[in-house]
Amino acid sequence: MSLNSESLKKKLAGKMIGHRLHYYEDIGSTNDEAFRLGEEGAPEGTVLIAESQSSGKGRMQRVWYSPPGANIYTSMILRPPTGTMQVTQVPIAAGVAAAETINEFCSGKASIKWPNDVLIGGKKVCGILAQMKMSGKTVDFIVVGIGINVNLAREQFPHDIQEIATSLAIEAGREISRPDLIIRLYENMAKWYRELTRNGFAGVRERWLNLSEMIGKTVSVMFQNEAVSGKAVGLDEDGSLILLTANNQNMTVSAGDATILKEVNTNAAGD
Ligand code: BTN
Repeated sequence: MSLNSESLKKKLAGKMIGHRLHYYEDIGSTNDEAFRLGEEGAPEGTVLIAESQSSGKGRMQRVWYSPPGANIYTSMILRPPTGTMQVTQVPIAAGVAAAETINEFCSGKASIKWPNDVLIGGKKVCGILAQMKMSGKTVDFIVVGIGINVNLAREQFPHDIQEIATSLAIEAGREISRPDLIIRLYENMAKWYRELTRNGFAGVRERWLNLSEMIGKTVSVMFQNEAVSGKAVGLDEDGSLILLTANNQNMTVSAGDATILKEVNTNAAGD
């Protein structure tokens, strides 16, 4: 089944996420186009899928490598209810949905790195870029863009990311069906988004903490051009990472790139 097949569209008909599908052979960025469609009034649950992106966007103004024929590049438009939840919780829920989906195809190997990178064996397999449209203080819509490295072989990655990125096929040792993966991704996203909008953040946060590889470890986060470090102890109500710093104070970081620091063995005898 191709990503443009009638059969995929049929399987997504009536689903909360995916009931409207826009397919592109090649596009600049599915997030940019989703934002444009959102401004035109596209309904919640509209999804965009591209076979390749010429200007795939990552977090922190990075480029997302988006060659054709092997991966998933998708964006979804969500219109979260106002007042009942914080919109910054949506990308956290998306990280949970993506990690669960990847685990279904790669037998429980995936973990989440704050805020919502999905890693297998410490290498990145999936990234999420959320962008929101505000009208004054209210959120009009949020675009959640998800990129998953699916069937890329090691040598097909650019040299500079070969050591830090991986794909589902490399890790599972077999080719993965992209249509099956994308259907499960939308189903899991709908499940966690519903949980968030109906019952609040608690369930999402618990699952995130469960899937995260950082909690309890000493991490360093580049935040507003400054490196802050501490023990990762939890997630704040808005999805910020809570760090316990060396002077025993809690500090929250709302954005940035986190790295797990290697524990230094201070025992001189080395045992
Ligand atoms: C990151 O980890 O830096 C986020 C990567 C997000 C990539 C996806 S691919 C689909 C969507 N369109 C984009 O331009 N970016 C996101």
